[in-house]
Amino acid sequence: MNTIAKLQQEILRLKKEKDVCILAHSYQSRDIVEVADFTGDSYKLSVDASKVENKNIIMCGVRFMAETCKILSPEKNVFLPNPHAGCAMADQMDRNFISKVKKAYPDHTVVAYINTTAELKTICDVCVTSSSAVEICKKIDNDKILFIPDCNLGAFVKKQLPEKEFKLLNGGCPIHASVTREEANEAKRLHPDALLLVHPECKPEISEIADYVGSTSGIMQFAQNSDNKEFIIGTEISIQEHLQYICPDKKFYYLSGKLICPDMRTTTLVDVYNCLNSDGGEEIKLDDNTIRDAKKCIDEMIRLGG
Ligand code: 13P
Ligand code: SF4
Repeated sequence: MNTIAKLQQEILRLKKEKDVCILAHSYQSRDIVEVADFTGDSYKLSVDASKVENKNIIMCGVRFMAETCKILSPEKNVFLPNPHAGCAMADQMDRNFISKVKKAYPDHTVVAYINTTAELKTICDVCVTSSSAVEICKKIDNDKILFIPDCNLGAFVKKQLPEKEFKLLNGGCPIHASVTREEANEAKRLHPDALLLVHPECKPEISEIADYVGSTSGIMQFAQNSDNKEFIIGTEISIQEHLQYICPDKKFYYLSGKLICPDMRTTTLVDVYNCLNSDGGEEIKLDDNTIRDAKKCIDEMIRLGG
């Protein structure tokens, strides 16, 4: 048995012994995904987190995901195995800034992408994820929406719902937003038989020419269910790696070599092992008021998205 397999076996033993549930976002590495109880996109993980029965949760992903787990299960101990796993988008806008923006748009419903801090969620009306944003914005009983922070996801939702008025701000994922139309054209030229599947955090000029736009889980499901044999993957390159493993008879190409999220890659299998041994990681601590206020918009997301 190799070292990784031994470590995985030890993790499986420890999580049982210590009553731990491991959640892993789709961007996590294969060795982590293999020891997880639940994997998926941000929406699926939020719903899974709300149903976990174990006393302890290890969230392999980034900080806002671990905070979401804590908000949904305040009585549980929630750990982020590597405290450096942040999210460049979630750190872009804070509560002070959005409080001021809200004053300029008092009749708008504030829709927060889940990639926001717990503190910012406390002053928002409803959360969305990439897989639920269109459906939830459609169901909101107000035609005026202030959508924060991702202007690319916001523009994608706005295009699907022309009957609503959207105010977008200048935020987003620097990694997805770095992909250019030239790169997309070049990838299509190099792989003319491949379908282009992209995450809505990419710029509108990329989403416009894609064959499918969706969440990380959506992209994976589309590729697995499609009769097509080749795909260009327009999201973090881990998805290309997972898909190649799951569908060995199909071919996957990355849209851009820049699609690497350092925050998502910072967590290792050793971090998970150390966290289980209380020798690393960080327990997420949020005060009661933050949990109470942030929970309202996450509960609203689950109610409208369910
Ligand atoms: P998903 O909800 O599609 O998993 O996206 C999370 C994310 O951070 C994408 O960059
Ligand atoms: Fe955040 Fe972008 Fe990384 Fe997703 S890919 S976790 S949005 S920085």
